Amino acid sequence: MPFLSDTLSRVKPSPTIAVSNLAAELKAQGKDVIGLGAGEPDFDTPQNIKDAAKAAIDAGKTKYTAVDGIPELKQAICAKLQRDNGLAYTPAQVSVGTGGKQILYNALMATLNPGDEVIIPAPYWVSYPDMVLLAGGEPVFVEGPSQNGYKITPADLEAAITPKTKWFIFNSPSNPTGAGYTADELKGLTDVLMRHPHVWVMTDDMYEHLVYDDYVFATPAQVEPGLYDRTLTCNGVSKAYAMTGWRIGYAAGPEELIKAMRKIQSQSTSNPCSVSQWAAVEALNGPQDYIATNNEMFKRRRDLVVGMLSEIEGVTCPVPEGAFYVYPTITGLIGKTTPSGVVIDTDETFAKALLEDTGVAVVFGGAFGLSPAFRISYATSDENLREACTRIQRFCADLS
Ligand SMILES: Cc1ncc(COP(=O)(O)O)c(C=O)c1O
Repeated sequence: MPFLSDTLSRVKPSPTIAVSNLAAELKAQGKDVIGLGAGEPDFDTPQNIKDAAKAAIDAGKTKYTAVDGIPELKQAICAKLQRDNGLAYTPAQVSVGTGGKQILYNALMATLNPGDEVIIPAPYWVSYPDMVLLAGGEPVFVEGPSQNGYKITPADLEAAITPKTKWFIFNSPSNPTGAGYTADELKGLTDVLMRHPHVWVMTDDMYEHLVYDDYVFATPAQVEPGLYDRTLTCNGVSKAYAMTGWRIGYAAGPEELIKAMRKIQSQSTSNPCSVSQWAAVEALNGPQDYIATNNEMFKRRRDLVVGMLSEIEGVTCPVPEGAFYVYPTITGLIGKTTPSGVVIDTDETFAKALLEDTGVAVVFGGAFGLSPAFRISYATSDENLREACTRIQRFCADLS
């Protein structure tokens, strides 16, 4: 009898975490490494949020809380969804978990039966397929090619739907591409979903606030109120408020689903950290002005990276609407050889050779389901980005 579960063999460890770990290891060995793998802002959590956490500790708010969130945070989430998205939810329709990741996982665990299909646009955030597999479902991928701004079309979505489809996972702006669907583009997709009443929508709005130029964020239940009763709107404080380590994510949706998610959480982690929940109340209810200030900085970095990568022959770098990632394709580099004789046969080989030869750590596109490409997180200093892009330019110029 094998000791490890069969389920475990269906999934792989997170490749993005693996890249971050490898970069940290090489750095610890004294190598000159620039890590562009991490998906988190490079600045500190705002002071008002840290103060709220300190006040919570001093006030003794350090005990177990309600399993899926304190009433004050659920209220703040309802207010946020109304304010930013025009969506009306009651606290009973809200669930708070240990990060956006746990929220998505709870929802899949609570709903998937063997053979249930989940449609995932590719490139995708690395965890979606593996979470679906862990929960016993089957991921079904729909490709959004670079020529289409990494977005899928309504026809692509319609073609992927079968009687077994349970969820459509939607993520805009996207990790890894930064692609953001306009309200019109999203309406095309929600029109398809209106024709298939058995399909639910899990929308991961984690990068809602990280948007640039004239792009306006839109979420499915807002664009198509007819989907309200079968949409789980997921979000969190990790990215917009630089709170990745605090581990607070949330979702709003039909009460029965929220109850089912609570049941999963009650038998696994119980409540998310009490202090972090109070910090999240301040994040959502407090001043929001630093989001715009941060976005100016992110936009400048995006433009710097897109500009420098676009100068490379064989690399195409679409301009993303949001998040803090760019996803250049490297079709023109496949088949070339490095000075040390490594043939770039895949984007994984490219990323490995790039790290070994230049110390720049990126994540290969295969990890996100669309090759040949790689992902850069530009949530690091301008200086680091300029140096990293210069090294990438040199590495590519030296290929023959
Ligand atoms: C698209 C997307 N969803 C969810 C998450 C998870 O967020 P959290 O850190 O709150 O678990 C991430 C984090 O990288 C993400 O990129």
